[in-house]
Amino acid sequence: MNQPETGIARRYLEQTRYSRRAMGEKSLAYPRPPLYKEYPDAAQRLSLDPDSGRRGADLWQCLARRRSQRNYLDRPLTQAELAALLWATQGITAAMGGYQFRASPSAGALYPVETYLAVHRVEGVTSGIWHFQALDFALELLAAGDFRQPLAAAGLSQSFLGEAGAVFIWTGVLNRARWKYRERAVRYLFLDAGHICQNLMLAATALGLGVCPVGAFFDEEVESMVGADQKEEVALYLASVGPL
Ligand SMILES: Cc1cc2nc3c(=O)[nH]c(=O)nc-3n(C[C@H](O)[C@H](O)[C@H](O)COP(=O)(O)O)c2cc1C
Repeated sequence: MNQPETGIARRYLEQTRYSRRAMGEKSLAYPRPPLYKEYPDAAQRLSLDPDSGRRGADLWQCLARRRSQRNYLDRPLTQAELAALLWATQGITAAMGGYQFRASPSAGALYPVETYLAVHRVEGVTSGIWHFQALDFALELLAAGDFRQPLAAAGLSQSFLGEAGAVFIWTGVLNRARWKYRERAVRYLFLDAGHICQNLMLAATALGLGVCPVGAFFDEEVESMVGADQKEEVALYLASVGPL
């Protein structure tokens, strides 16, 4: 077994530190990778209204009440609830100087985290795997079908992943962040995903919905479910959402 001093985690942290002696190499020379992933051949495209589901709530109460929730009511999520959650996580909230800024922060405004949804029960939305297109605030259907069992199995048999109304699946597109930050970019992918998930949890709390973040899953099974190539795009994090 690796000793803590020589293990891969220790070496990664050592080799990706910034210090006054060395700031690491500059940005990669190749052209900046695209900021948005698009699926022009998606089987279905569903435009959502980013303003439809937002309701007033007290931020301090949401912070105090937020808990990881693993038991959900039977009722489906509404499209308006889903739209509000997507907006809170990745909605475009400002455009300045060629950048489209989103509700969650991202290192260098590169937004390397892609959002997919496993839709189990959402009113008027075909069950299956969807990709969220942030630029148009639309969902693109990648695969129709019942993914409750395979997703729970991919999540180390955590059954609530099949009982939720929907599961957010976040991947990281490595080159989008490596272009600027080289190997240090991987730190930022996970930080970005953490911000996104916290926004999801607070927005869900405001709407009376429950979320459970999930870091325990078989990477390859999640990646193949959303069509990530497992080299340039890797699974980062999941979060189940359902009514309470
Ligand atoms: C990175 C991360 C990964 C997690 N993975 C799981 C998981 O796989 N399954 C689960 O049931 N909860 C998971 N959780 C939820 C934690 O168990 C939960 O946040 C913790 O018990 C604190 O409870 P609270 O969120 O209600 O405050 C995860 C939380 C984080 C932040």
